[in-house]
Amino acid sequence: MCLRFVHVVPLLAVFHQVWSQNTSPLPKPSSVKEISVAVGSSVELHCANETTAGSDWRLNELSVGTGDVLHLHNTSLDDQGVYTCHDQDGDTVETIHLRLGYAPSPPEVRCWSPSYPVKALCSWTLTPDPVLQTQYISTYWYQGVVHPCPRQDEQVRRCVLEGLDIYSNEPYLVNITAVNALGSASRIISVIFEDIVKPNPPVNVKVKVLPGKKISVQWSPPPTWPDPVNFPLRYNVQFQWGKPEMTSVMRSIESDSVVRSGIVAGRTYFIRVSCMDFLGHGQSSDWSDLVNVTLPKS
Ligand SMILES: *[C@@H]1O[C@H](CO)[C@@H](O)[C@H](O)[C@H]1NC(C)=O
Ligand SMILES: *[C@@H]1O[C@H](CO)[C@@H](O)[C@H](O)[C@H]1NC(C)=O
Ligand SMILES: *[C@@H]1O[C@H](CO)[C@@H](O)[C@H](O)[C@H]1NC(C)=O
Ligand SMILES: *[C@@H]1O[C@H](CO)[C@@H](O)[C@H](O)[C@H]1NC(C)=O
Repeated sequence: MCLRFVHVVPLLAVFHQVWSQNTSPLPKPSSVKEISVAVGSSVELHCANETTAGSDWRLNELSVGTGDVLHLHNTSLDDQGVYTCHDQDGDTVETIHLRLGYAPSPPEVRCWSPSYPVKALCSWTLTPDPVLQTQYISTYWYQGVVHPCPRQDEQVRRCVLEGLDIYSNEPYLVNITAVNALGSASRIISVIFEDIVKPNPPVNVKVKVLPGKKISVQWSPPPTWPDPVNFPLRYNVQFQWGKPEMTSVMRSIESDSVVRSGIVAGRTYFIRVSCMDFLGHGQSSDWSDLVNVTLPKS
């Protein structure tokens, strides 16, 4: 009997909890309505309970109007925020989160390959910025099949194409679609892998003064380029001194260094290096950062 009693006590405790929950006053349901509208449009915000005459509207706690319906004309981004509608007692009857922004415009898409033939990247921008949260769908179409163009995460406006065919006669059709609460827009661009090759700039550019009024320039290939031995690059080295027009470029260098003679003592030379796929596919890289060297006057 005693054992049985011990079992009953916790059971009673559970019943008590349930009972007290059911009879205590329930908190008011606090559902927030989300409304997204285009900048410049007019909006009517309705108080939940139409019979609540003399409603008072507040935006982020500041009074903005009275009445069942709040009219907003020619909205701007400043109209965004949390609107609450209050009854005569000041109790909140409705909570509306108003967001403003723009329907997506067709994305401006750019594709390039800093690591031919391993992969290509496509990135995109939207003008104007939609402001509202926007999702992207990135795919490409090749030989009748649609493939995803994967992104690192949902918000990143950049996707990666891997395992592409080289020297294909058929272009890859990249489809970038932007979707938000106000609409969607797509852009399809046609890509031939060889045409979009663009290495990153060379790195670790170093200059050294050599005897006999010479300087040597050394660099490393861009780390993103797959294998500079199997997929060689060629380099351009630019020397600039004094005014911008005082420039000379040593072109199509096939090694990772070059020596330039005829250097004038006391003059500062600014040097930068760019590279290109050896076979001339696509575009030259951007220039590396400038380094400078001054041959001391002796
Ligand atoms: C509006 O409020 C009144 C009084 O509080 C209530 O009787 C009525 O049911 C409410 N109507 C709606 C649609 O919530
Ligand atoms: C709407 O507001 C913008 C600036 O906020 C203004 O330039 C424009 O003229 C307004 N349009 C109308 C129809 O009032
Ligand atoms: C581009 O992608 C979107 C989203 O997946 C799709 O709705 C649309 O039909 C595609 N466009 C073409 C031309 O395939
Ligand atoms: C030359 O390069 C050094 C760093 O290597 C930098 O501190 C200096 O400002 C540069 N000189 C000029 C004239 O830009």
